[in-house]
Amino acid sequence: MKASVGKNLVKLFSLEGKVILITGAAGGIFREIAKGLAAIGGEVALCDVNEAGLQDVVSEITASGGLAYGVPLDLLRKESIQACVDTVIARSGRIDVLINGAGINRRVPFIDGDEATYDQIMGINLKGVYLMSQMAARHMISQQSGSIINVASYNSVMMLGGCAVYGASKSGVAALTRAQAVEWAKYGIRSNALAPGHIRTPLTEPLWTHPTRSKFLLERIAMARPGTPEDLLGMTILLASDASRYMTGQMYHVDGGCLAGGQPWDLDTAAK
Ligand SMILES: NC(=O)c1ccc[n+]([C@@H]2O[C@H](COP(=O)([O-])OP(=O)(O)OC[C@H]3O[C@@H](n4cnc5c(N)ncnc54)[C@H](O)[C@@H]3O)[C@@H](O)[C@H]2O)c1
Repeated sequence: MKASVGKNLVKLFSLEGKVILITGAAGGIFREIAKGLAAIGGEVALCDVNEAGLQDVVSEITASGGLAYGVPLDLLRKESIQACVDTVIARSGRIDVLINGAGINRRVPFIDGDEATYDQIMGINLKGVYLMSQMAARHMISQQSGSIINVASYNSVMMLGGCAVYGASKSGVAALTRAQAVEWAKYGIRSNALAPGHIRTPLTEPLWTHPTRSKFLLERIAMARPGTPEDLLGMTILLASDASRYMTGQMYHVDGGCLAGGQPWDLDTAAK
């Protein structure tokens, strides 16, 4: 490879010197994303309610020479969100990229759902994203630059039984993304949603260990396998870096072809 090729690629996608605040950074997907972003030069502020989990990821990243620190965050408490943003600003001086990665799901039939569960899912997945974005964006507005990556879902546009509130929260995340793009472009802030398909993590383990649910999913994923957190890294780097400088207000599905359709029969043997 010509030396200039590597240099030009690095220039386009570089995260060197960028301060990246990641919520849900102790979880299945975003601990791996945090490692991947730190490995290419990002300074990652890892935020989560699971403080022990955060420490593990911070140790792993710093042991391999990356820049990372942990900040406790409870998205159900507004004062905790403000304290988290204040800590990142005090330590790093700016926020270049915000990744709203934290999210929960409680699978329950619509008819049986209770108010406390509704409030918890909406509180973390939607209100948490709203407040965190607002507080981080105030700094991005002063900087006149920033990239927000909200984490949506397959359930933003499709629905799986038992996921009514989760799906509603993730459709809401897509709407917040458009609102941020429309209102904040004039400050140099871009906002996009990363919509993972079916990724194997603790959140979705009950699906992959269930005989009929895992069969249902695998028949609908063109690539016929669950996604891994690492499968989402390329899109995250694109959205975080200046390579996506004209991209804002959209949702990007990374789903192994799940939304493309599905092939729940064998073309070789089925009736033509
Ligand atoms: N796994 C998938 O297939 C999939 C698919 C589509 C979208 N997503 C989304 O991706 C994101 C990460 O999913 P995951 O699979 O890594 O889940 P996960 O359960 O492994 O991680 C979620 C993280 O959020 C944190 N969290 C929970 N409540 C919090 C709170 N009150 N304050 C701060 N942090 C809190 C948890 O401690 C955990 O570390 C979520 O937003 C999820 O909805 C996941």
